Amino acid sequence: MGAAVAVTRLNLAEFRNYESLRLEVDGRPVVLTGPNGAGKTNLLEALSFLAPGRGLRRAGLTEVARRPAGTAAAAPPAAPWAVSARLALAGSGGGVTIGTGLDGDGAAVQARRVVRIDGRPAKSQTALGDWLSVAWLTPQMDRLFLEGPGERRRFLDRLAYGLEPEHARQLSEFDSALRERGRLLKDQRDSGRPADPLWLDVLEERLAGSAVAVAAARRDFVRRLAAAIAAAGDTGPFPRPLLSVVGTLEQALDGAPALAVEDAYRGRLKVGRRQDMAAGTTLDGPHRSDMAVVHAANGRPAADCSTGEQKALLIALVLAHARLLASDRGAVPILLLDEIAAHLDQARRTALFAALLGLGAQAWLTGTDGALFGELGQEAQHFSVQDGRIGGKL
Ligand SMILES: Nc1ncnc2c1ncn2[C@@H]1O[C@H](COP(=O)(O)OP(=O)(O)OP(=O)(O)O)[C@@H](O)[C@H]1O
Ligand SMILES: [Mg+2]
Repeated sequence: MGAAVAVTRLNLAEFRNYESLRLEVDGRPVVLTGPNGAGKTNLLEALSFLAPGRGLRRAGLTEVARRPAGTAAAAPPAAPWAVSARLALAGSGGGVTIGTGLDGDGAAVQARRVVRIDGRPAKSQTALGDWLSVAWLTPQMDRLFLEGPGERRRFLDRLAYGLEPEHARQLSEFDSALRERGRLLKDQRDSGRPADPLWLDVLEERLAGSAVAVAAARRDFVRRLAAAIAAAGDTGPFPRPLLSVVGTLEQALDGAPALAVEDAYRGRLKVGRRQDMAAGTTLDGPHRSDMAVVHAANGRPAADCSTGEQKALLIALVLAHARLLASDRGAVPILLLDEIAAHLDQARRTALFAALLGLGAQAWLTGTDGALFGELGQEAQHFSVQDGRIGGKL
């Protein structure tokens, strides 16, 4: 199994405003320019579905299916959407085709996601992470440090999958056990009949095992990313971020071995059943953890930094992650940078382009103003996007 360094061909069918698209690219950065509403972010979103999870808009599975103008968002899609990509793999020189989309043919579209690796169905979407690592920054993420912990935690987890695809599997195992426990407790509350205590024991055992694996993987990832940031030294015009993960299990692992943390968490789940039932949620666990970032040079938490500084901190994190992957897995992630050039001053823009080219990362950059990418010249491939079509190479 290898890890991809670049997409060489992208195919979309019935995805958002793309009826169908076939795009051939090489390993250089890809610049997509076009007017508002052309389909630039949609194309990045399609690429983001080639990683485990719900993509860069966290959209529902049927939401991204193409709907003709005037059709209600709730209407079932007429045809299943699909995204697939041919990937060039690091080292071996070989390739693999990975794809995902809705199940079913035109006659019967099902709201079930399928994943294929070289044409063969994969058991779970987490298989995507074995082949490709995708990181993204979008304008919505300008609020990442200002809002609740959910998006920060997901950002951290996605970066961590890149280094350790097993993390995605443990998270998915944890989520499914968490949902199942929640359902049992809700049934008990609604019906007044006690849930099967043995079944709860089994679920909580699964929950505790995967929870500790998730917390340990986050700690390990943060430690390695922090070490890579420290080792990189000068970060140019991008501030150096100090990164940590905050959560009950993550902190417990500071002072106790994993098995002890797991036993203690399982015990807390058992005694907390009544309280969790009343709250309608599991109150303690790694699904509540947060990522904390501090601007190293001035010691300010990211939330207190200026909008531009917050963006620069995020860019610094994503670049450090890409460098870590390059040195650890021998493959850089695909970077989806939506409207990033428009948000940076000239010096930072030039530094970002230089960093991307230095990494050899296939970054997909979007913007309405092609002039902002002019300095990339032939070191990038430039396309115009219009009405859900690639108008041509610029
Ligand atoms: N499910 C869908 N089916 C068809 N069209 C859709 C669907 N979802 C979104 N669209 C349309 O896709 C168009 C392109 O959206 P997108 O966000 O990709 O534009 P963009 O090129 O990034 O524009 P901007 O420069 O404003 O960010 C929008 O007009 C939107 O209405
Ligand atoms: Mg956009």
